[in-house]
Formats: sequence, structure tokens, C-alpha cells
Amino acid sequence: MSPLSDAILSWYDRSARRLAWRVAPADRAKGVAPDPYRVWLSEVMLQQTTVATVTPRFEAFVERWPTVLALAAADEDDVLAAWAGLGYYARARNMHACARQVANERGGVFPDTEEELLKLPGVGPYTAAAIAAIAFDRRAVVVDGNIERVAARLFLIDRPIREAKAELKERLEGVWPTRRSGDFAQGLMDLGATVCTPTTPSCLICPATAYCAASADGDPARLPVKAKRAAKPEREGVAYALFDTRGRVLLEKRPPKGLLGGMLALPSAGWSAIDSDPPADVGWRDVGAIAHVFTHFRLTLSVRVADAPRGRRAKSGERWFDPETAPAPTAMRKAIDLAVRARQKSSAA
Ligand code: ADE
Repeated sequence: MSPLSDAILSWYDRSARRLAWRVAPADRAKGVAPDPYRVWLSEVMLQQTTVATVTPRFEAFVERWPTVLALAAADEDDVLAAWAGLGYYARARNMHACARQVANERGGVFPDTEEELLKLPGVGPYTAAAIAAIAFDRRAVVVDGNIERVAARLFLIDRPIREAKAELKERLEGVWPTRRSGDFAQGLMDLGATVCTPTTPSCLICPATAYCAASADGDPARLPVKAKRAAKPEREGVAYALFDTRGRVLLEKRPPKGLLGGMLALPSAGWSAIDSDPPADVGWRDVGAIAHVFTHFRLTLSVRVADAPRGRRAKSGERWFDPETAPAPTAMRKAIDLAVRARQKSSAA
């Protein structure tokens, strides 16, 4: 065993989190074997959700369906209802299909190799390795998000995780112990969750500091390096801020679907599938532009300002709002603020 894996296993013996699906290392050493059904169920649940959220849900699940045979016999609607809040229902359907496959085709016994586990519905490379290691102590290299971060630091991998997957796995393979593979995997998971955390790793109490290249390098929090995001496309548009004599601004409710769907906004055009006409046929004054970054593009929105002609009433879907307190989404808030400042400046002049 490498000194690094030895150090992590000793730390795990002292510091393992007690988790509902876990056999504590002391019990494991006495020969208590994990229940593959519980290991599988917990890994499927943990694919999408945190330990804190999963724990009570896991307990409720295994109380209601204590074995893979019980789960296989359950009504699908009941399983889906019990899954609520745990992520995509496709996962729950796959999980149920997996339980039925294990029940009907394998006599209720989970396979014990990565290769066979991979054939089950909803079981991908991560889950297959995790079950093989944790339930059966197979030497399977388990790599989840926490373990990737720990490994990127241990081995000073200076590239974004997305580009370094193969190298991370290879480096882990080099230190993965032949004995206690499941405890080692869970030790790395716990280390990532409690010590080697994303922004403030606690190197002073870490069992692996002496073996950690990033710690020796002086700045482990720098790793893993972030991937550069692809440049977002740029969009341009124009928004119209019409003010009444009381200083209120005209907002319209956008259609329910699409960008800023159902939200209050200045009438605007050119930047989304929804184009509004200028809300009055008057002289519009250009007062500058605001920038806003949406998930999929950057928006430069020119803002035009005008005073409403006498008698201009709010039409259906429109309303006059106090510009300070109007409940508008951030991009529109920026545009309204710019319009208000421009008006104040021009009235002071
Ligand atoms: N995250 C995913 N699987 C886990 C496990 N077995 N223990 C702790 N955290 C986990």
C-alpha cells in the first residue's frame, strides 16, 4: 500500500462520517458486509442530490422497500411519488427498472463486478465503480466530483478537470489500494467533503498534506483550475422608458413563454423573440445603454426616454409604476435606473 493511501485509510478509520447507507470502518473490519441494495440505492440518489438531502429520503425509501425484491414489486407511481425532490424522474424510472431486472433476471442478487454492474439500467461508469468498490471491495477506481478535486490537488494537475479526466483516473489508479477499496473511495469522498473543500481547504488538518503536490506548491485552493467558458454571443436591443407627469414609468407584462417570460419589462425590441413597438409616437431621447449577461448571451440594451403625451393611458397588459420600486428583473432594473438618472439630469440642467 502506498503511504498516501495508508494515510487516507487511517484518517477514514478515525474520521469517517456516519451515513445511513454506510458500514462504519470498525464494523467493516469486523466483517460486517454492506448491503449492495443500500449501496446501489444511495449511489443512485447521490448522483443528483447532496448527502444532507438524500439522508432522510434514503431512510424513508429503505423502510418502505427494505430489499431490491420489495422495490421491484412496488407500483411505479408509488416509486415516482417517493422520488419527488430527488431529481429527474427518468432516474427514478431507471432505478425501478434496475430493481426489476435484478429481481427478475438475477434472483435479487446484484452483480459484483464493474463490467456486469454497467449492464444495469441507470448504472453508468461512476455508479458501477462505486458499487463494485463499496459493496464488494473490488479494486475499482471511483471518481466523483469531490475525488476529482482532491486528486487535482494531490497530483498538481494544472488543467481544467474536463480536459484531465483520463490523467486524474490514471494517477488515482496508481495509488488505489488492493485492499479496502471501498473504504478508500469513501475516505476520499469524505476528505473532499470535509477537509479538501472547494474554496478553503484545511491543509493543516489534512492527513494527505505530506503527499500533496498542490500543498507543497503553496496554493492548493487555486486547483482545480476553472475551464475557460466559450465567449457568449452578443445581442443588441432598444428599450423605451415612457414617463407620465407623476414620474411613473410604463411597464408591460411580457408573454408567459420566452426570455423574461411573464415578467414586467420596459417595452423593448431587437434582442428577443418578443418585439414591442415604442409605446408612444413622440420624440425619444437616447440616454445610453446598459449591459446585462444572460445565461446564453450578452445583451447591450440602448435606453430611450420620453414623456408621455397627455391622455396616454395604460393599455391592457401595461401599468404605470413608481420606477424606484417597480418589480422588474435585473436587466430591466438597470435600464429603468439609467432612464431615471437621465431624466433627473435633464430636469436639473
Ligand atoms: N457521495 C456519493 N457517494 C457517496 C458515499 N458513498 N459516501 C459519501 N458521499 C458520497
